Amino acid sequence: MLTDEEKKCLDGGFGDASRTAMDLLVQIGNSFGAERLLPIHSVHIVAHFGSLHQAGVDFLEKLASGGGKCKVPTTVDPLSVDFDRCEQFRIPIWYREKQERLKNAVEQLGAIPSWSCTPYYSLNVPRYGQDIVWAESSAVSYANSVIGARTNRTPFGMDICASITGKVPEFGLYIERNRRGTILFDVQIGNFRELDYHTLGAVVGRLSGAKVPVIKGMPPGTTNDQLKCFGAGAGSVGSVALYHALGMTPEARCRDPFDGQKPEEVFTITREDLNEMEDRLTTADPQLKIDMVTMGCPLLSLEELKSVFVKMSERHVKREIHFWIYLSREVYNLGKSMGLVEPLEKAGVWFSTGTCATISPVKLWGFKHVMTNSAKCAFVVPSEHEVAMTYGDTDRCILVATETA
Ligand code: F3S
Repeated sequence: MLTDEEKKCLDGGFGDASRTAMDLLVQIGNSFGAERLLPIHSVHIVAHFGSLHQAGVDFLEKLASGGGKCKVPTTVDPLSVDFDRCEQFRIPIWYREKQERLKNAVEQLGAIPSWSCTPYYSLNVPRYGQDIVWAESSAVSYANSVIGARTNRTPFGMDICASITGKVPEFGLYIERNRRGTILFDVQIGNFRELDYHTLGAVVGRLSGAKVPVIKGMPPGTTNDQLKCFGAGAGSVGSVALYHALGMTPEARCRDPFDGQKPEEVFTITREDLNEMEDRLTTADPQLKIDMVTMGCPLLSLEELKSVFVKMSERHVKREIHFWIYLSREVYNLGKSMGLVEPLEKAGVWFSTGTCATISPVKLWGFKHVMTNSAKCAFVVPSEHEVAMTYGDTDRCILVATETA
């Protein structure tokens, strides 16, 4: 059921772009049986050429030239190109041009040029219970689970249309009953190590699919960064858009996440499950030389940057290895003013802002064997870019990429 204003929008009363956007939302809403459109408070869109290709360029340019404008605060995921370092990262001109068209289109539409998958750190921070429309699985997981805002895993196209109209069809995780936990994970792994958050996310994602898992046994001191890494693993190896960590995430603190019902399944997760997943995420023959080590998936936070800085003390990057760290421009600039960036750059680390390895032209660079401390990167990059992968924690990554000065 549309309001008079929504009908006017659908009839072209607010211009071409709004009509196209409303039409797409109504069709999606109908296919999911949505009964109404909800007003929204925030949008996070994707605009990386590595995933959207020419069809994405055409669609966003059409909306921009049709007079579309973002109605609510709208941030943008990393792009496939770091425009500040195109020469350093040898980005082919044709690829750069395509990404530039996408960038121009979203800027014309009035999106915030955040180029970050962690907008919740500063630029786009929704409140508990707000209906929002976010794309990018790790950001969606964080917004739903850690903040308690409400969004589906919004596909490309629907994200920008929601921003232009300020509306989204009510289905999926916008409906209270669909946010109920359905599977319980009893985590019994002893002490949590750094990599365990990523790996546990991957294990939970694999067993959950698109269901809503409830996690018992995360340590009380778990940080937001660790929840970010857990959610990225669960959202990429599975399709988890929302999880509840008992005693920690807001919807599991305010009420029973199972809403009085029994979980459909209960899994006990042990150290063996994590070890098995670590082995699964390493696809490379150990004899094959590693030529790239990468961190920052999801993009590195300031705390994570500090930790790399400390671990890198007195070490420099080996001549035969590329050690690339991905972060947002804000974190890079803050790190710079705190004296964390320059020593690492002098030690041979390459920083890249506003993009990441997964959506970059890794194949064009000719790397054969990549190492990372991110379960999401380890899971996605081999299939997208046909490279061999080694998965290991930050200490191991630094050990492989560097030697003592
Ligand atoms: Fe972010 Fe890129 Fe990883 S968008 S979650 S750093 S794949």
